[in-house]
Amino acid sequence: MPITRVLNVESVRFGAPDLETMRTFLLDFGLREAEATGDGILRMRGTGVAPYIHETEQGDAGFRCVTLRVGSRADLEALAAADGVEIEPATGPGGGEQVVLTDPDGYRVEVVAGKLRAAPLAAAAPQAWNVGEQRDREGVAKRLVSAPASVLRLGHIVLAVTNMAATWAWWQSRFGLLVSDEVQAPNGDVAAMFVRCDCGAEAVDHHALNFAAIPGMPATFHHAAFEVADLDDLMVGNAFLAERGYVHDWGIGRHILGSQVFDYWKDPFGHRVEHWTDGDYFDASVPPNVADIPTMLGHQWGPAAPADFVA
Ligand SMILES: [Fe+2]
Repeated sequence: MPITRVLNVESVRFGAPDLETMRTFLLDFGLREAEATGDGILRMRGTGVAPYIHETEQGDAGFRCVTLRVGSRADLEALAAADGVEIEPATGPGGGEQVVLTDPDGYRVEVVAGKLRAAPLAAAAPQAWNVGEQRDREGVAKRLVSAPASVLRLGHIVLAVTNMAATWAWWQSRFGLLVSDEVQAPNGDVAAMFVRCDCGAEAVDHHALNFAAIPGMPATFHHAAFEVADLDDLMVGNAFLAERGYVHDWGIGRHILGSQVFDYWKDPFGHRVEHWTDGDYFDASVPPNVADIPTMLGHQWGPAAPADFVA
């Protein structure tokens, strides 16, 4: 039995030497300023109910931590007892409490409970489509304006790890994660795992986390992915970022595993961030699937992955 069953990923934290440059990029990427708390950390939110989903602290550029959300203080107590850590006040808007854990590769994992939900913000209105005989906007012209995408929420985090067996044992035993896709190398080794939260009959994102084990590669952050309003919103957001000269990484295309339409960018400090829409939702009854590496890195349409992304 796992110690807890996490509800979802809550937020991701980075370091950057210039918070204003990061703020400008994140606004252009489609995030909004979160409630200020005066502690010097740049916090940004989506239009959803999480009080913030992206944090940046002043310092060297780099990934700092992922925060997961559990349902109760009892979950924190169980995690604290298992790992010999203390429950402490959570930082940032919404308050709550947290425990701070460290995974086998040294990744900092903050687990929060009791953080208040925020009032949702207005997002770009989903656009109706005329598709063949299914005409959902007869008599209505489609007019899109140049603007940042509307980021709704954080979807998933991808981490490179050095020992998949140790990683999976640690994360699954603490957080009750389910395997959506296990990606096997030609020699049978597990090269990656797309894993989702166990929320029973409630369908959840195909993957909240992805772990990739690349022989010889150190443990490194790969990307964080943010859901946008719909396909038009993703395309408008792509044009907006391109016009401002930001570094495009990969896309636009549709993944195979998870099925989402994707568009990857680099923030000004080199962290890879993804816009996505129309991903798969699975409840806990969907069994694990086994896939190969070409399927993981392939796409249903769109350009091939660049070498930097694959490495
Ligand atoms: Fe992704």
